[in-house]
Amino acid sequence: MAYDKIQFYGKIIKFIIPYLITRLYQRFQAFNHRRTYKESPSAKNVVVLGASFAGVQLAKRLSETLPTGYRVVMIEKNSHFNYAFNFPRYSVMSEHERQAFIPYDGIARDAPQGIFRHVRDTATLITEDQVRLASGDRVDYAYLIIATGSWQPLPAKVTATDSGKACAELRTVQENMKSASKVAVVGGGAVGIELATDIKSFYPEKHVTLVHSRRQLLNNFGLRLHEYVLNVFRGMAIETILGERPQILPGAAEDRSGDAGEQKSLRFADGHVEEFDLIISCTGQRPNSACVADLAPDSISKETNRILVKPTLQIADPDDAFPHIFALGDVAETGGPRMARAGQFQAEIVLANIIALMNERNPSTVYKPRLDFEGAIKLTLGKTGWVVYSQNDDGSDMLVSGNDGKEDLDVGMAWKTLNVEFKDFSNVAGEWLEVRS
Ligand SMILES: Cc1cc2nc3c(=O)[nH]c(=O)nc-3n(C[C@H](O)[C@H](O)[C@H](O)COP(=O)(O)OP(=O)(O)OC[C@H]3O[C@@H](n4cnc5c(N)ncnc54)[C@H](O)[C@@H]3O)c2cc1C
Ligand SMILES: NC(=O)c1ccc[n+]([C@@H]2O[C@H](COP(=O)([O-])OP(=O)(O)OC[C@H]3O[C@@H](n4cnc5c(N)ncnc54)[C@H](OP(=O)(O)O)[C@@H]3O)[C@@H](O)[C@H]2O)c1
Repeated sequence: MAYDKIQFYGKIIKFIIPYLITRLYQRFQAFNHRRTYKESPSAKNVVVLGASFAGVQLAKRLSETLPTGYRVVMIEKNSHFNYAFNFPRYSVMSEHERQAFIPYDGIARDAPQGIFRHVRDTATLITEDQVRLASGDRVDYAYLIIATGSWQPLPAKVTATDSGKACAELRTVQENMKSASKVAVVGGGAVGIELATDIKSFYPEKHVTLVHSRRQLLNNFGLRLHEYVLNVFRGMAIETILGERPQILPGAAEDRSGDAGEQKSLRFADGHVEEFDLIISCTGQRPNSACVADLAPDSISKETNRILVKPTLQIADPDDAFPHIFALGDVAETGGPRMARAGQFQAEIVLANIIALMNERNPSTVYKPRLDFEGAIKLTLGKTGWVVYSQNDDGSDMLVSGNDGKEDLDVGMAWKTLNVEFKDFSNVAGEWLEVRS
């Protein structure tokens, strides 16, 4: 563990110093850019579709970089930035859920006048030079970046696009949780593990079972992380069932009159059925790639449904017909991990290549995933517990843990990153109040 700590802090220093230098340089460039950029009514659109971790980072960087004659149009269906990192926590802990919905107003706070436009709408179709929206509007583009990510059921993602309704979804899970004494969490990926440990630490009296399809929890990571988490589960008395992909069944007949269709039991491979008061699936991530299905069907992977991209992050099309369309983040088959950090690294690649194309140069900046940084994971393990794990390119790994996490998971930092003042809604009593910046 001592060697891991040295490695951990070594990695932070190795990362933070070049990062701070780069950020300083970018700020200097942005300052110059503010003085030189001229607003133009005929500016061509660089459209960023999807404004979450990958899209917002790219929209910010574009708005401090694009030359006169271009502007950023950020299209997003959600009313607020959905800070999904906190959704499992806010599915258990009540009165904080509003903090996970951050206003978009600060993104281009320091950008020059006229360079940034935010459109709240849903893209329904993409053509070679236009994005068609659910409202009937159309947005022309010279360059398009698809950052539409993925969808997953609660508690990983919410369905509503309005933050008030989205909060109500999280509150429904909280309420169901309160009244359940026997809870099953299906799926031993990061979401399932964070949720199971949250339930047990906020409600120690509840019986929590986690069921995972493989013999190894978090099977995308190393065995050491599995063993660490399993040990934490033992300490918290979370029952763990491995190597099972149970069928989720509706409740027993006598239950069904009250809450039709509610899923309340699991049928395991040997046929035995176990009843629960609440079953929560933490599975089923689906890429939001359908928007390119008409224009470039061959650019969608048949195996993963993600958008195939070249190392330059331009979409991979057999005829190379769309050099002006890029994809990044969770929706794209980049070879990188599906983590917010990876999308943010990818934003720089897209930015460099778009600028190259604007200057009639070949896009030559390629994405090479840095697994030790982009693939590192910080998992919460209950109210204050956490573990950081990462694998190095040589196959070695690093694991550091602690017990000093914050209950709100430092959500204020996310607000700060989005340039808005943090509002602590946890003490606001009563019904939903609209979140405004
Ligand atoms: C519970 C949870 C915790 C996590 N914790 C971490 C963590 O600690 N660290 C980490 O690095 N990663 C974490 N991740 C993973 C991380 O959240 C994802 O990798 C990241 O969200 C991917 O970002 P993205 O921008 O590519 O896509 P998404 O976050 O999926 O966002 C896509 C955006 O596009 C919008 N959109 C989609 N389709 C349309 C359309 N047709 N029209 C308009 N808008 C559209 C969506 O509304 C959404 O805002 C976590 C994930 C979950 C679920
Ligand atoms: N702190 C963090 O950084 C953090 C936190 C949360 C999420 N995330 C990221 O967000 C993404 C989504 O995470 P996730 O945990 O929701 O998904 P995930 O990583 O896909 O994990 C879900 C797991 O559940 C298993 N599973 C699927 N169906 C099952 C069933 N019926 N019964 C039992 N097990 C089943 C899957 O295994 P099979 O392959 O066998 O189907 C999979 O390993 C991931 O990229 C994750 O790394 C990161």
